[in-house]
Amino acid sequence: MQGLVLAGGEGSRLRPLTLSVPKHLIPLAGRAMIEYPIGHLVEAGVVDVGVVVGYLGHLLREYLGDGSRLGARLRYVEQRERLGIAHAIHLAIEAGAVDGPFVVYLGDNILAGGVAKYVEKFREEEPDVYILLSKVKDPSRFGVAVLRDGRVVKLVEKPKEPVSDMAVVGVYMFRDPDLVEKAFRSLKPSWRGEYEVTDLIQWFIDNGHRVAYDVVDGWWKDVGTPESLLEALYLLLDSVGGRVEGEVSGEVVGRVVVERGAVVEGRVYGPAYLGRGVYVGRGAVVEQYASLEAGVRALSGAVSRSLVMDEAVLDLGRLRLVDSVVGRRSVVKCGRELHGEIRLAVSDFSRVEL
Ligand code: DAU
Repeated sequence: MQGLVLAGGEGSRLRPLTLSVPKHLIPLAGRAMIEYPIGHLVEAGVVDVGVVVGYLGHLLREYLGDGSRLGARLRYVEQRERLGIAHAIHLAIEAGAVDGPFVVYLGDNILAGGVAKYVEKFREEEPDVYILLSKVKDPSRFGVAVLRDGRVVKLVEKPKEPVSDMAVVGVYMFRDPDLVEKAFRSLKPSWRGEYEVTDLIQWFIDNGHRVAYDVVDGWWKDVGTPESLLEALYLLLDSVGGRVEGEVSGEVVGRVVVERGAVVEGRVYGPAYLGRGVYVGRGAVVEQYASLEAGVRALSGAVSRSLVMDEAVLDLGRLRLVDSVVGRRSVVKCGRELHGEIRLAVSDFSRVEL
């Protein structure tokens, strides 16, 4: 079985964070977002993986390389125009990146617990298409599946009317690439100008092919906005076990990961993540649900429920940074006697002085 990870989007709803980096490279508790889907495929025994890249694709290629670091054999497919998920799949088939049964995993989706058991089921039952569903509160943001008598009868992309609250998760399995190509040839772009994966699968339903599904247990997150980025982080931190490999002369309470080379002189309350080479100074407090990625320096102040990316510096005085995202190598500094909470979305290489 082969895999396909789609990472061709511009991440426009995550600007300005995505002006300098594709959203799939945003770090979450020590791994770039795209490493979760690739890691889950490898875990499921799927090591030949095509990665569809577009916007800032060279950065993805540089970062992931041949994939050997992740136990995968990666092959890249360039999608010059963002013409939809079905189009990205078609390009990958055309380029020969997949030529037998395959699983597509959207590069901005994370499924708790991975996909191993679903891949296993697909291998055993060999349906033409296998999709995963998850009940959601806001179906209008997703593709949804209408079910009748235990079967998928209709898929609707971003429904305006409430037809179903079962969202289609960004993991799709297909048995036969030739059939997928046949389905693709019948598609027309949707109102948003994209070849939709939901329309692609609808073709299989309409033409009498077997479309199987399962409802996922555990959480599933699709990361498109700053809010969902933080929600994904909180869910990931909820499942980290404590592990201290760095040096702690301050205080570490609860489930905290302190990676090798990190130094904690201040206080850290888990769940929290401190990447390689992170420094938490005596005057700094890292609170629940904060992730300080590699090389971050927290010199003073408190940080809570926030993602602070590689090499950023926090020197917050008496301030508390909450529900925030701070980009790589940015500096947030408070030189005055300010108290209270602040909430920021700061892109890479920026400087905020308060
Ligand atoms: O997350 C699940 C949802 O993903 C499904 O419920 C929807 O049916 C499906 O259409 C998709 O909806 P989104 O609007 O959230 O997809 P988005 O545009 O965010 O793209 C998802 C991923 O696929 C993202 O990692 C970028 C990549 N992509 C997307 C398009 C449109 C490509 O590689 N090429 C593309 O042309």
